[in-house]
Amino acid sequence: MENSTITTGDRQNRSTKIRFQYEDDDLDVDQDETIEEAATGSSNLEEDSATCEPDDSILGSDKTSADYYFDSYSHFGTIASPIRIHEVYLLLAYFPLQEMLKDVVRTKTYQNVIYKNSFLFKDKVVLDVGAGTGILSLFCAKAGAKHVYAVECSQMADMAQEIVKVNGFSSGNAICSFITVLKGKIEEIELPVGQVDIIISEWMGYFLLYENMLNTVLYARDKWLVSNGLVLPDKASLYLTAIEDAEYKEDKIEFWNNVYGFDMSCIRKQSMMEPLVDTVDQNQIVTNSQLLKTMNISKMTAGDASFTAPFKLVAERDDYIHALVAYFDVSFTNCHKLTGFSTGPKSRATHWKQTVLYLEEVLTICQGETIVGSMTVAQNKKNPRDVDITLKYSLSGRRCLVSRTQSYKMR
Ligand SMILES: C[S@@+](CC[C@H](N)C(=O)[O-])C[C@H]1O[C@@H](n2cnc3c(N)ncnc32)[C@H](O)[C@@H]1O
Repeated sequence: MENSTITTGDRQNRSTKIRFQYEDDDLDVDQDETIEEAATGSSNLEEDSATCEPDDSILGSDKTSADYYFDSYSHFGTIASPIRIHEVYLLLAYFPLQEMLKDVVRTKTYQNVIYKNSFLFKDKVVLDVGAGTGILSLFCAKAGAKHVYAVECSQMADMAQEIVKVNGFSSGNAICSFITVLKGKIEEIELPVGQVDIIISEWMGYFLLYENMLNTVLYARDKWLVSNGLVLPDKASLYLTAIEDAEYKEDKIEFWNNVYGFDMSCIRKQSMMEPLVDTVDQNQIVTNSQLLKTMNISKMTAGDASFTAPFKLVAERDDYIHALVAYFDVSFTNCHKLTGFSTGPKSRATHWKQTVLYLEEVLTICQGETIVGSMTVAQNKKNPRDVDITLKYSLSGRRCLVSRTQSYKMR
């Protein structure tokens, strides 16, 4: 059994307090204005060189998430939090699922997409890819789907089966619709029907692509979706911005340079390669945001998730830059009204937070100056669930002249 962990930060404990559940939040879709906010597509969505060659010989740099199964302390930023990885659900099943369900931006957006666009679901056959507790299947069934196939590979499928039954949606015991829970991997199960009208899935990982569940959705799409069928969500975009982050970089990265008088900078070198999943305060943002890549889930191929995208980040004030920050948004363009959410630092927090890529040296940037470069994103060859990121960037400013290449591994 493979497994993986990710380095997650605790910045919000020191500055911005993040919580998903607001006092006025409940799951009644018509009740509160925050639901509308989360789902309108506008609330949470925003407006829009020395070379440091990666040293692959350093400690553990070839490791993938599979190697971290019994070795979670090998992540250096913090003790790694083994969350939201499907194999982990077998071990720590309830915490990550609760965290995801309590992420109201995420869950209420899906709920609103389904309830407010029930015309899309009426009498349709739906496939829920990676059903977890079955929450999306329940939404679809309630919205009038003819039949929902809820496929889940972890032990949670047994709970989903029970949940479906208790709520009156199991086959042969339905109020208005049937849900069939199928336990197994999408790639291995046999679906009782040849085709489905809609594929719904919450497949997004940290940095959008970590865990690589997107391939599972694309596999299901190519195997079962009718020619004019819908994939929900159908668009996902990755963005990049730059932040000032002196305090946190000092605390998490430079710490290793002098630990009680000893040089542990070999660990610093390794921790620099591990993107940090953490919540960034919007006041830290120094530049514009650059769209790196939009993926059309209805049409793309698995290979499209590996790409090189150029970027140009323009400083909006004089400041220092310690890291580039990646985040994503997803949208459901087939809804009556464009709906979606962003995981960006200017939007309401989600459990995906943002992904922070620390830069080797501090950039001193003046307003109007630009950092130009490219980001290459690729599946790790050894473990396709992991993501390899290469960042090329340069700044040719009045106070700083830098051109570098840095490599990162999300594992
Ligand atoms: C992010 S969770 C979403 C759960 C649920 N749909 C929700 O929205 O709360 C993704 C789920 O997909 C399951 N999963 C991942 N890969 C899968 C695969 N290849 N086949 C079936 N299920 C898979 C995981 O076990 C996990 O329960």
